[in-house]
Amino acid sequence: MSGDALRTLLGSTGRMLAHASHPGEALETLAGRTVATVFFENSTRTRGSFALAAQRLGAGVVDFSNANSTAKGESLADTVRTVSAMGVDAIVVRSSRSGASACAAAATEAPVLNGGDGCHEHPTQGLLDAYTLCEAMGRLDGFDLSGLRVAIVGDVLHSRVARSAAAALQTLGAAVELVGPGPLVPEAMRAILNEHGAIERDLDAAVERVDAVMMLRVQFERGAAVASTYRERYALTRERAHRLREGAAVMHPGPMNVGMEIDAEVADGSGLASGARSLVLRQVAVGVAVRMAALEWCLGGVGACRP
Ligand code: NCD
Repeated sequence: MSGDALRTLLGSTGRMLAHASHPGEALETLAGRTVATVFFENSTRTRGSFALAAQRLGAGVVDFSNANSTAKGESLADTVRTVSAMGVDAIVVRSSRSGASACAAAATEAPVLNGGDGCHEHPTQGLLDAYTLCEAMGRLDGFDLSGLRVAIVGDVLHSRVARSAAAALQTLGAAVELVGPGPLVPEAMRAILNEHGAIERDLDAAVERVDAVMMLRVQFERGAAVASTYRERYALTRERAHRLREGAAVMHPGPMNVGMEIDAEVADGSGLASGARSLVLRQVAVGVAVRMAALEWCLGGVGACRP
């Protein structure tokens, strides 16, 4: 996505957040429209926030996630064609297969929004991470993150969040470091970095120089394996978090393996030294506004889009 398109969506996210603080003035820009959610993988935040986002814009929501006909042998494309034939206006898809949303988009005229496809992309998560960081760093004016360094830590290999967040943050000018052990951050991951990015094996070195740390869940369900020293070397423990710079931000897309990749009191901010802050719940709140912006972008005529 171009920097201009990204900034347009982030600007619209800001307007959605501003509306959220005036609950009396309901937005009805998608009144009469219907959004379908088709999730073939577990989801709390993404599915729930897409549904809330649609409702807050006046659209109806139908969830097809439990009516999983693929378990009966139906292809994803056929499921999407079936949902589309019912007359929905947009379809949000999540699948464990990389490329599933592109496949779904090819099967219907309706806009398809990618709610996460395998290890590939999670575009609205990348958007919400970018907005949340801009807000925390006082960079909402122009959405310019230049001069900031962000460490994305842990299971980068299996993370669609890492790919989408790195793309968004780098487009806005941030430098990104990928931090983790060789099996979870192989050299080939350099491909998602620009010339300002780096791979770092030493989390202790990274925490002292970055402005934000984005911790990732170890994705055991995608085959990730970790050494017994993982917590010791790569968790954002209370002790390690104390070495974060003044004003540094802690992020995690959730769900979290608490105690393994992050300590509970780091995630909730209570164990952080003064000046550092946890953005974990702010990420969730911004997620609803980002999905409102994305739905309106796709359905409200700002421009054609398949994020
Ligand atoms: C992420 C996902 O599903 O990719 N979660 C989310 O959408 N908030 C990250 C994860 O599952 O670890």
